[in-house]
Amino acid sequence: MNDPVRVVWHDQSVGRKEREAQQGHQGCLIWLTGLSGCGKSTIANSVDHRLFARGVRSIVLDGDNLRHGLNASPARLAEHHATEFAQRFGLGFSAEDREENIRRIGAVAQLFVSAGIITLAAFVSPYRRDRDAVRAHLEQWGRPGDFIEIHVDAPLDVCEARDPKGLYRQAREGKLRGFTGIDDPYEPPLRPELVLRSGSETPTALAAEVIIYLERQGKLPPSVDR
Ligand code: ADX
Repeated sequence: MNDPVRVVWHDQSVGRKEREAQQGHQGCLIWLTGLSGCGKSTIANSVDHRLFARGVRSIVLDGDNLRHGLNASPARLAEHHATEFAQRFGLGFSAEDREENIRRIGAVAQLFVSAGIITLAAFVSPYRRDRDAVRAHLEQWGRPGDFIEIHVDAPLDVCEARDPKGLYRQAREGKLRGFTGIDDPYEPPLRPELVLRSGSETPTALAAEVIIYLERQGKLPPSVDR
C-alpha cells in the first residue's frame, strides 16, 4: 500500500535467527480464543509456568490485563487525557473496538515473536476475521507456522456456571450489554491448530497438550522429563 506518511523500516542488528539459535528454541504466537471464563488465561499461565521451568523465554498477553494499559477504556484514559483523546483511542467491546484491540495485540505479539519469545495470547477474540488478520500479519513479518490458533472450547453453560467475574450474571440481568455468548456473537475457529476441551479436562492436562504440540512442531526441543 502507498503510505503517505514517510516511514522507513530499519533492520535490526541482532536478528530472530541469532536469538533463537542462542536460546535453543523458536518463537511463536499461541493464540487462545474462546468465551469468557473458558480457561484461556489459566491454560496460558500453566503453559508459561512449564516453559519457564525449562528455561524457555515466554510471555503471557491477557485480555483483562492489556485493557488496563495498551488497550485501556475511554473512561480509564479520561483520567489523564482530554475527553476527545480518550474517546478516540480508548477501547470498549463494540465489534470495531474489539477489532482494534486484536490488531494492536497482534502487532505487539509479532514483536515478541520476532525476539524469539513464545508468546501466549489469551483473548476472547470473537471474530474470525480479526484472528485471521493476526495470522496474516504474523506470516507476513515472520514465517509460516508462527501463528498457532487454539480454540479453548467449553460450553457456554459451563463458562456461565463458573462466572469467575460475575459478568455473565450481569449480562443476564441486562446490566451489561454486548457480552460475548449472551447478546454478542462468538465465531469459533474453522481450522484451529488445536482444540482444547476445557469443559471436561483440567488446565494442567490441557497445558501439557500445548507443550507436546510445540515439541512436535519443532518449536521446542523434546522434553527429557516426560
Ligand atoms: S475481546 O473480545 O476484545 O477479545 P478481551 O479478551 O480483550 O475481549 O477481554 C475480554 C474480557 O473482558 C472478558 O474476560 C471479561 O472479563 C471482560 N469483558 C467486559 N465486557 C465484556 C464484553 N462485553 N464481552 C466480553 N468480555 C467482556
